[in-house]
Amino acid sequence: MSEMSTSLKIAIAGLGVVGGEVARQLIKRQQPLALAAGRRLELVAVSARSAATDRGFSMDRIDWHDSPLELVARDDVDVIIEMIGGSEGVAVDLTRAALKNGKHVITANKAMIAHHGTELASLAEENNCFLLFESAVAGGIPAVKTLREGLAGNEMTRLAGILNGTCNYILTTMEQTGQDFADVLAEAQHLGYAEAEPSFDVDGIDAAHKLTILAAIAFGQKPDFAAALVQGIRDVSAVDFTFANQLGFRIKLVGVAAPGQVPRMQTCLLPLSSQLAKVNGVLNAVEFYGEPVGSVLAIGPGAGGGATSSAVLADIIDVAHDRGGMPFGRPVAQLADTTDQPGVGLADTPFYVRLMVVDEPGVLAGVTGILQKHMISVESMIQQGRAPGDVVALVMTTHEIASTKLWQALDEMTSLPSVKARPVAMPIFAADQEG
Ligand code: HSE
Repeated sequence: MSEMSTSLKIAIAGLGVVGGEVARQLIKRQQPLALAAGRRLELVAVSARSAATDRGFSMDRIDWHDSPLELVARDDVDVIIEMIGGSEGVAVDLTRAALKNGKHVITANKAMIAHHGTELASLAEENNCFLLFESAVAGGIPAVKTLREGLAGNEMTRLAGILNGTCNYILTTMEQTGQDFADVLAEAQHLGYAEAEPSFDVDGIDAAHKLTILAAIAFGQKPDFAAALVQGIRDVSAVDFTFANQLGFRIKLVGVAAPGQVPRMQTCLLPLSSQLAKVNGVLNAVEFYGEPVGSVLAIGPGAGGGATSSAVLADIIDVAHDRGGMPFGRPVAQLADTTDQPGVGLADTPFYVRLMVVDEPGVLAGVTGILQKHMISVESMIQQGRAPGDVVALVMTTHEIASTKLWQALDEMTSLPSVKARPVAMPIFAADQEG
């Protein structure tokens, strides 16, 4: 390595699970990483909440800064690794300041890129810097690189992905144990798989941030989180898994995006035979559809220090080789406005609907009357068991229908005296479909 150019000087802001692991890797695996990067990778400075914490590496030759913004002012820092997180606040201030000051930025912050990606990519362009975020999407799966590089020659037609390990773990466990959402969530929190404040995960927000980023790269559009449809997994009950299974489906939180359509993150039913239906536990998966490639499936660990630091290291190596590329694969001026495109909308799908109704004569007539009024065509209907006078589940699958129209009908059904809870409705996505 004698002819190697100068080392790449790195500063890390945030030493949590991922930032700490990146630091440990840079220190412990200096030689193989230098070989991969073509030059030495030198961690020169860090900033985190507490200097006193033992993070399993020596701080002897690394400078400590109380404020992450101090890292930007250092002349000897080439690249800042932003591991603070959050769509607003210090992380965004740091990223803006770093790019304006000519420093490359590598971030795992999906919320920041989904909300401010266009502005930050413009700043990167104006200042000839790289802005890289492989670790923001699906942890260890190289989903960003797959789109930006490996599939760059394709016309992308569709993306579908399981992009949140916490939700996939909860849904898998609910299906396998028959427990309800609240019990599995509590258990997952106890085991450290779910955050104490779980809403970002279970309400689909984290996964939708990732989908927003992938859709921007795949379809050449500005990342626009506000345009996405975001639903989580809270409404699913143990009984839904039984019905879904009976109908030949599995319940998953899946993100789907296609050109000219609103990206949608929804709890849905997938045919048992589909690839994504087989992805269980904390794993993530992304299916890429493009022309001429057909479909490509990537599965792997979507979270955790090891998986996510692997993605950060890949970005560092790209910066070291001066091959960071454009954040969204093309100049910002060429990215389309998602909301201004003609035909943007939500694709019609078949739906699974569960009503909790009193088992008494005439209930079906009320329900089907409303369906008829809204021209909603039912494909199948199941009522399990017989419990006169008690509340039972009544499950239907519909033919393709706009979700707004379906919800109008379901809202009307809620006011029927025999319908005892707000209906649950989930789209049914076809198996590994094109377009
Ligand atoms: N909390 C996420 C998950 C990982 O459960 O997959 C970080 O986005």
